[in-house]
Amino acid sequence: MTATRTLTALTVLIALSLSACNSTPITEAPVNPMTPLEAQTQAMKLWRDDDRAQHPKGSCSGCHGADFYDLARIGSTQVDILRRAKIDGATAQEAAALAQAIQQIRARDSLPLENPRTFRPFQPGGAVLAGLTPLERDINFARELEPLLPTLFGTRIDSLEAAKKARAELMDLIKGENAGGANSSRMNLRSLPTGIQYPLWSADLAQGESEGTLNDWLADIALDATPEFKTQWHALQDAYLGNSSDENFWKMYAAVPQMTATKPFERCTIGGINPNLACGAVDDFALHKLRSAMIGQHLMRTQHAARAGFAQGPLAFSYLDNASYIAKSDFLSGGDMWEIGDSARTMMDENQNAGSLRVTLERLGLPKFVRESVSAITSVSAEQQRLRLTWFWIGFTFEPSFARISGSNSTKVGEYMVGSLIDENMHLHNAFSQNVRLIAKGYLPEANVKTSGSKLTLETPAFLMNYGYFIGYGRPVLHWNEDRKNPLPVALKLEQEGLWQRFVGNGFRMSMYLQMDSLDTADAATKAKLLENLRVTTAGVTTQKWGADAIKPFFDTYEPKYDSYTPLEYRADLDLMNALNAKIGVSSSY
Ligand code: HEC
Repeated sequence: MTATRTLTALTVLIALSLSACNSTPITEAPVNPMTPLEAQTQAMKLWRDDDRAQHPKGSCSGCHGADFYDLARIGSTQVDILRRAKIDGATAQEAAALAQAIQQIRARDSLPLENPRTFRPFQPGGAVLAGLTPLERDINFARELEPLLPTLFGTRIDSLEAAKKARAELMDLIKGENAGGANSSRMNLRSLPTGIQYPLWSADLAQGESEGTLNDWLADIALDATPEFKTQWHALQDAYLGNSSDENFWKMYAAVPQMTATKPFERCTIGGINPNLACGAVDDFALHKLRSAMIGQHLMRTQHAARAGFAQGPLAFSYLDNASYIAKSDFLSGGDMWEIGDSARTMMDENQNAGSLRVTLERLGLPKFVRESVSAITSVSAEQQRLRLTWFWIGFTFEPSFARISGSNSTKVGEYMVGSLIDENMHLHNAFSQNVRLIAKGYLPEANVKTSGSKLTLETPAFLMNYGYFIGYGRPVLHWNEDRKNPLPVALKLEQEGLWQRFVGNGFRMSMYLQMDSLDTADAATKAKLLENLRVTTAGVTTQKWGADAIKPFFDTYEPKYDSYTPLEYRADLDLMNALNAKIGVSSSY
């Protein structure tokens, strides 16, 4: 009897305390009941309200996108919707209208119940690959690749035929096809599980220290319509909300730079190597985040409607080359995800310092509400690395040739992505993305375009072996980023190195064979251009510049000449390097 009563009392207590943290304060003005249409109308009015007196950060739409589909999709709780809406200037009535309108979308579209604290939109396969450390996840990534790329992971590639087979298998992963026969599930780069964890849609410090980061999809500074464009901007958003076609999406997307702007914030006083660049990147970061949020929202909508076509093919948005509603450009729309990583790099590059992120954000002139949205104990270098790692990878899955993201030469060879993956000891992710880059750029017509005026022409693709930073600084021989006092487990390093040796070695061989082949088959003009990139003449002496000297230490290390079992293979690798040199008119005797 007593026991039951205690239990009941306890249950009531628990129920009370639960409801206390799940309900809004009791002191609020009562909320009037609303019909679905009323809730929708009031919620949209709130969503677009950019009156800074009421909403000091700007309108909800200035950071989240045209409407609140995102909040419906990620499963934001009623408590969080009411809390955040009020923080951002909504009245109790408006907040309740928004919560109701979000519920209505969920019911209408039967959206699955997600937990926004764990749901990572677009994470390939739904979850990051297993492994406690990046090193373990990297090994698991290669284990996943082995059956998909049997030639690159197999025995020594020793003929053009084998090189073409390796290329076909890579191309299948790039295109999501199965011409080579190893990709029966038609995996592509955006469905291939990776060891890189995708960001939460909304990382909110109020949910705990680990969410105290800018590494999420939502803009941190609003881009609202400038007064002269307000009517036009809202008309574009209305057109999109009325009919969420890809065309209406892109028209709205394309208008962001012209029709919206951030409000000037505080003065940027950052130091470091290039303060002007860093200060300038703050606006870029906001722009790319808002546009990534817009792309993300549109992906959520089209995925729900099971409508394919928004992201299609390896260069996901290259179909815009044939669309009449968007201006032609060498560079693709939709490179924003990559550019989040790159503008974060520029903005947070203050001598790569390990100081406080909040202090750097203050020096960048970012308002208090942004500074206070990040952890007080996180460092700027940790934040920079987080943002680079995730967004470069996401960007890569949308444009694996790197050719049409921006005019920057560093971007074209993925310089900073290489750096981030190496720092993380994700050497196999690194090798994979670099080999994919060479094949995508070398063979996909859509990765090779030029515009003059409004006319866009396809240039003939031609394979060029430019591994760039991947082979710089002695990198073909593995070195780990580890703490001397707390080194990485030797067994794991050996396992990773074994995979590296097979995959990277065959990547080099594949590329050398393909390079000779592309020189043999290119027309005269293309061949001349290739040669310009493969050799250099100074003071009458012509030498190679395709990386032979950087690559040779790889073979020296992994097929050591003193190892009695491999001398033939080692010799064959050197002969292959000599053959490529001969093909470009450079004599060498490795
Ligand atoms: C200045 C940009 C900005 C504005 C303006 C803004 N938000 Fe947000 N919102 C964010 C960011 C960024 C996050 C992610 C959490 C964080 O960084 O604090 C977020 C998170 C949220 C969340 C939490 C989602 C979850 O489940 O984790 C809700 C709800 C939300 N916002 C609603 C609103 C509403 C409603 C408005 C307008 C009244 C609004 N926001 C205005 C940027 C903004």
